[in-house]
Amino acid sequence: MTAKPDTATAWGTIAHLGTVELFTPELDGSIWFFTEILGLTETGRRDGSVFLRTYDNYETTSLVVTERDQPGMGPTALRASSPEALDRIERALGESGHEVTWIDGYAGHGRTLRTSDPDGHETDVYYDTEWYDAPERLRPALKNQPQAKPNRGVGVRRLDHVNYLAADVLANAEFHQQALGARATEQIQLDSGKIAARWLTYTQKSYDVVYTEDWTGSTGRLHHIAFATDGREDILRACDICIDNDVFIETGPHKHAIQQTFFLYVYEPGGNRIELCNPLTRLVFAPDWRLVTWTEEERKKGQAWGLKTIESFHTHGTPLV
Ligand SMILES: [Fe+2]
Repeated sequence: MTAKPDTATAWGTIAHLGTVELFTPELDGSIWFFTEILGLTETGRRDGSVFLRTYDNYETTSLVVTERDQPGMGPTALRASSPEALDRIERALGESGHEVTWIDGYAGHGRTLRTSDPDGHETDVYYDTEWYDAPERLRPALKNQPQAKPNRGVGVRRLDHVNYLAADVLANAEFHQQALGARATEQIQLDSGKIAARWLTYTQKSYDVVYTEDWTGSTGRLHHIAFATDGREDILRACDICIDNDVFIETGPHKHAIQQTFFLYVYEPGGNRIELCNPLTRLVFAPDWRLVTWTEEERKKGQAWGLKTIESFHTHGTPLV
């Protein structure tokens, strides 16, 4: 699909997920996990934050980790598809009554529009960005790759998606659909009619952001962020790396029924849930994609190959409540 965005709500207005900021009460442990276990590269430290990147990111930063009393998340930054798209988003947000401020981007991004979803998750949108220029020791052999693949840990390829917890899934999904041009690809609908989760995409990946109902009724929390590996075998290898390094495995490896993602969920030392996922999941080509709805009954069957959904999946989020 090559939708030409004419309005802020058109698909294609957002180009892709850029960076996420995580909070951690265990800064050293978290940085060890992201660099030594996942294989991200640290690019610098500033104002209590550590800047990290996955090797296949053309931009400078994939993840910002900041020390706080509680785990949780800071802003998610999305790259607009053009400077004009950024202006259209500002107008659309203003017209729909969302508060918008302009800030200096802090993760290699230029002027950045800051707003928040209805649940209170800070959301940044930028267009100008710094392309990564690898130092000599990190130069790749192939010129079509931004950085040599780090020879440590899992060696994740990219930040893949963010899964937010929200008190009202539908309101937040519609914010992404109406103000930011996301498309909904799959959802869970309870017998009561309530939407308990919805998967959304800005791209032809079948999802980039997800909203899941926060059963505690809290707002602004994180369920997990996910990093894509090169292949499924990397996720099996990650299991061995995790058990040898006392990284807590919550569930998996297995395959989700929804979106069919091959997955492993672990907790980083700060307490945030991190998913490793296979990147060769489904792509959405249909311009008239039909939203897939899973029922309560279907969800009771568990994951794709029968693994029951672990109880903590419905209770653990950050910050902890
Ligand atoms: Fe996920």
